[in-house]
Parts: sequence; C-alpha cells; structure tokens
Amino acid sequence: MIAKIEQLLQEVEALTASNAEELEALRIKYLSKKGAINELMADFRNVPAEQKKEVGMKVNELKNKAQEKINALKEQFENQDNGCDDLDLTRSAYPAKLGTRHPLTIVKNEIIDIFARLGFSIADGPEVEDDWHVFSSMNFAEDHPARDMQDTFFIESGETNVANNIILRTHTSSVQSRVMEHTQPPIRIICPGRVYRNEAISYRAHAFFHQVEALYVDKNVSFTDLKQVLLLFAQEMFGPETKIRLRPSYFPFTEPSAEMDISCNICGGKGCPFCKGTGWVEILGCGMVDPNVLELNGIDSKVYSGYALGMGIERITNLKYRVNDLRLFSENDTRFLKEFEAAH
Ligand code: DAH
Repeated sequence: MIAKIEQLLQEVEALTASNAEELEALRIKYLSKKGAINELMADFRNVPAEQKKEVGMKVNELKNKAQEKINALKEQFENQDNGCDDLDLTRSAYPAKLGTRHPLTIVKNEIIDIFARLGFSIADGPEVEDDWHVFSSMNFAEDHPARDMQDTFFIESGETNVANNIILRTHTSSVQSRVMEHTQPPIRIICPGRVYRNEAISYRAHAFFHQVEALYVDKNVSFTDLKQVLLLFAQEMFGPETKIRLRPSYFPFTEPSAEMDISCNICGGKGCPFCKGTGWVEILGCGMVDPNVLELNGIDSKVYSGYALGMGIERITNLKYRVNDLRLFSENDTRFLKEFEAAH
C-alpha cells in the first residue's frame, strides 16, 4: 500500500493541465468521491494495525499534496489574461471611443469661425425651396439663360408657370432672400448648407455638395469692404502669405460680380499641376448685391447697398486637405474619415 501511495504522490507532483476542463478531469480522477485517493481510503481497513499510523499519515500527505497541486494549477489559470478583467472593480472605465468630425464639417466650422469674428451670424433656410427664393428673388428672369447655369432637381413642376416650381435649392443664395424678406439692414449673415444640382457624379462633380453664402447689407457698403473681407478670409483660411485676385464675372444677383482666386497654396504660386501651371486657384464668387435683388426683397436700394459671396465647401476642403475625389466625401469610408482624426 505504501508503494501505491508513493506512486500516486509522484503522479500528483507531475500533474499539468492546460485548461479548466483538463483540471476538472484531474480533480475528479484524484479527489472526487470515486477518485484514486478515496479508493485508497477504502483499503485502509485492511492495513495491519501496526502500519495504520504510517499509512494514515502518508494518505493524508497525498491528499493534501493533490489538493495543493490542483489549487496551484487553478490559480495559474485564473491569473492568465482570459480577456475578462472585470475583477478589479476599482479600475477606471475604458475611455469612450470618439468618432471623427467629417472633413467638410471641420472646414465649415473653420469658415464660420472666421466670419463670426467679423460679426456675421448664421442663417438657415430650407433645402426644398420654391422658385422665388432660389431664382426669381435673386434676379433670374423667367427666361433668363442664367437659369440654365444650374441644372435643377424638381420636386414639383409648376408646368407653364415657373413661379409654382418646387425644387431642391441649387445654391445657398436662396437664404439671402429668406433673410432679407423679414429683416431690415444692417444684415450680416453667413449661411452654410447643402445644395443640389442635376449632375452626373464623377470625381469632380456631385449631385449634392455644400456651400457657404455670406451677405452684408448696410448703408455705404462698398466693394472695398468686400475686398478687405475676402483678403482676410483667404489669409485666415490658407495662411498669411496668401494673395488674392479678383476677375470680373457674371451672376444675376450681383453687379459688379467677380470670381476670386487665391495664390495656389500647394506650389505657393509658382505653378503646379493643381493650379494648371497658373499659380492661382479659383475659390469663390462674389459681388455687390444687385439693387434689383434688394428691391425684390423689400430693401430700399437707394438707402442701402451690400456685398455677397458664395463658396463651395468641398472646393476649400480640397485645397486644404488635397482630397481629389469628391465622391469620398459622401461614401462614409471610415478609412478616409479617420485621416481627419487629428484635425479637430
Ligand atoms: N450662388 C453662386 C453659385 O452657386 C455663388 C455665388 C456667387 C454666391 C456670387 C454669391 C455671389 O453670393 O455673390 O455658383
């Protein structure tokens, strides 16, 4: 019997288990009711009286060893990182994973910040608009070819009467009218928002995009004021080295009208593929609010004058972050969006 116990002692000493099930199997094998040690106990009464003491001690030793070994193995498993570390109740929580701002939102906020510092407040208007606010109040004549400049999505066609058309706004200039119809000058607003045009989607055109409109109407507002604000905006947005230039242009709602270029911020004005070697890139349209627009919207053009400007947020974002495929902005590919994690 002593030999049997010695053998079991050696076995127990060498036990290993690589998972909880194996360990449980060992416990059953040695320590359960029908386990090897209990079986030994059953034989105990056959042990001669003079050996009982020695054998008893040995069996006890074996029992303790087996228990110790199984406990030790168990502890080993519990200390292993099993991905479930909810045992330390004093541990602080995992930081919540924050998403990233969309690049267009980052740039929109930056534009708003710059204009807010100049005293502009934010105005809003509907994306589903009537013809009046998008076109007629902005001095587009009914048969004016300028209406063709912007391919319009129709929600409801007014048939023969364009005044009854319900459309998706093609530009944020409609908000100029929305504000002027209920506010007398001084008016100093910017309106960021989504606009829609019936365009085939490609890397450089989309059926929806974003604009920011700015409108300033007061007494004695001049082109000089506009130019000053444009220069300040360009330098705040693209850096103090940035130069601007204005080229005469045409919009039905401004007279005179201009398009503004900035010195190419990619090559610094030396000429590169991005600016097609010219050193300049166009970023916005602007001009003095046409007196007709003031009158159409209930503002006395003999007393007040104003300037307006409008820019595409995608365009500004492309210039700042070199995103050269417009479609990326609306595809929600998190690999793209995550690139802007550090940008605020
Ligand atoms: N609405 C014009 C467009 O969508 C942009 C624009 C040009 C807005 C000149 C203005 C402006 O306010 O003065 O192309």
